[in-house]
Amino acid sequence: MKSEILSRLSGSYPWGQHLHYFPTIGSTNDHIRTLARSGAPHGTVVIAGHQTGGHGRRGRSFHSPEGVGVYLSILLRPRCAPTDLMHLTCATAVAMCDAVETAAGFRPRIKWTNDLVFGQRKLGGILTELGFTAQGQLDYAIIGIGINCCQQPGDFPEDIRDMAGSLSMAAGRPIDRWQLAAAMLEALEAMDKKLLTQQSKILDAYRRDCLTLGQDVVLVRGDEKRYGKALDIDPEGALIVRFASGETEAISSGEVSVRGMYGYV
Ligand code: BTN
Repeated sequence: MKSEILSRLSGSYPWGQHLHYFPTIGSTNDHIRTLARSGAPHGTVVIAGHQTGGHGRRGRSFHSPEGVGVYLSILLRPRCAPTDLMHLTCATAVAMCDAVETAAGFRPRIKWTNDLVFGQRKLGGILTELGFTAQGQLDYAIIGIGINCCQQPGDFPEDIRDMAGSLSMAAGRPIDRWQLAAAMLEALEAMDKKLLTQQSKILDAYRRDCLTLGQDVVLVRGDEKRYGKALDIDPEGALIVRFASGETEAISSGEVSVRGMYGYV
């Protein structure tokens, strides 16, 4: 509930009056997009107790049951060109590692680009999108984040049971999901302050938290699979991969699986 979150935020959190809580919603990203188009301010947040149509990248659904996770979207209106936000998902992932560390006492890793993981299980994900004015200028950025907080293994649907995890499972103790929500909001506000001025520091932190680097990976695009090794993250957040053919490429789209994770052996 809104008061549970507000009471856990520090006095200096500036966007408390722009926090909207819904017990049930289709998708917080879809709702905040409507608010963005009708002029909602920088720092507006939509949080849901439960999403009936939570979604992730590549049209996948994001399982968002009542009472066990944090599902939120934040609206930012950075004054910059869209090309200055290439690192937005990476910056958010590092901020969410900070938030989990604050709320649950351990630091997850990041599977490039947008999965939070611990012990080979996905704890949550990030979905970012940009909106433009009729003149083609950047109007807003939406960042949607879902983190599994209180589930036990049997709570996940069978198709994701082997690869999904929660903060409580990882920490081995119950984690307060309102505390997590507050830590996420504080971390997003801290991220917003340095987003446009500390890009290279943010990407260094991302490299440190990213478990994909140094691993054998497979890039899947349609029917094509290419095997290689993940070497680095470039200044725009793309994954630099050296393929078996000897070519090195910066990958910014496509599914990248890491050997040993989510069933890729
Ligand atoms: C992914 O794993 O590909 C990203 C998942 C993002 C899920 C969050 S939950 C809050 C927000 N609303 C959505 O519909 N999606 C994001």
